[in-house]
Amino acid sequence: MKKGIIAALSATLLLTACGQTGTAGESSHDAASPVSPESGSVITDSTGIADSTDIADSTDIADSNDIADSTEADVVISPTEEYIQRETAEDEPYNTDSIDEAETDPEQEITGEDTGDVQESEANAEYGAPPQVYDIPGITYMTDPNTGVTILIANKSYALPYDFNPGLDPTCEAQFAKLSAGAAADGLDIYLSSGFRSYDYQSEIYNNYCYWYGQESADTFSARPGHSEHQSGLAIDVNIIDDSFIGTPEAIWLEEHCWEYGFILRYPQSKQDITGYKYESWHIRYVGTEVSCALHELQVNGDDPYLTLEEYLGIDSYYH
Ligand code: DAL
Ligand code: ZN
Repeated sequence: MKKGIIAALSATLLLTACGQTGTAGESSHDAASPVSPESGSVITDSTGIADSTDIADSTDIADSNDIADSTEADVVISPTEEYIQRETAEDEPYNTDSIDEAETDPEQEITGEDTGDVQESEANAEYGAPPQVYDIPGITYMTDPNTGVTILIANKSYALPYDFNPGLDPTCEAQFAKLSAGAAADGLDIYLSSGFRSYDYQSEIYNNYCYWYGQESADTFSARPGHSEHQSGLAIDVNIIDDSFIGTPEAIWLEEHCWEYGFILRYPQSKQDITGYKYESWHIRYVGTEVSCALHELQVNGDDPYLTLEEYLGIDSYYH
């Protein structure tokens, strides 16, 4: 398909995916009342914060062959076959009921209108429902005041229970497949390098980094066990998981387009003091298209193109 056609089609699809009306020629950035980043409300306070001072001794350190060859101190593990397989072949998914089944239905339409029409379904191709919500003590959720969507929080301030082991969220996985197909249509190859990571595997990775780089440095690019978004099943690292990915056509495409599929670039540049982590051009987080569109709206209409989830929800991210 020709690029111009794709662009026109994409514009139409995106307006629909974001629950907006209008033609492709209209700017999606000219909303009369942009969404404001007011503070959300905490639904469930985290009670499962891990002991952040626990660093395993060197006997627990994983095989040093897992460390990528690099001269950059902030480089993360190389996405070797071993690395990818180990973290995608995890335990059984957490078996629990969701709070709101409607939110797990990928066919649910943002506008709430009937989606029986085939053409309309196709026009919603990129729409991604919010991920499953778990009724489990110790998980922190916030309600996005702009969309009403429930958002799981996993950062330095809010941990996940050690036994929360959901696997990669199915909606996240399906939307990533669409994202990858969208990139392929533009001649780019975006693939999953690291998806779900259990508490134990994150612990192994983190301890490994502490061994090689020291805890202070490790804390700038690797989450302590219980604090990684990868344990939520909603985060994906794509392609090359190190700074060499920055500025590549795939990284640029990802930053420009991931929101169309319900993802956000979670650790943007210049926001280490806010997110707690250095720029990760390869780490995207699934939130569903309502939230990703709302955040994107603010990024393009406001004065901060790198507005973070923490700023959007009015929360912090540091080890207490
Ligand atoms: N690299 C991100 C912060 C993680 O370890 O989850
Ligand atoms: Zn990541």
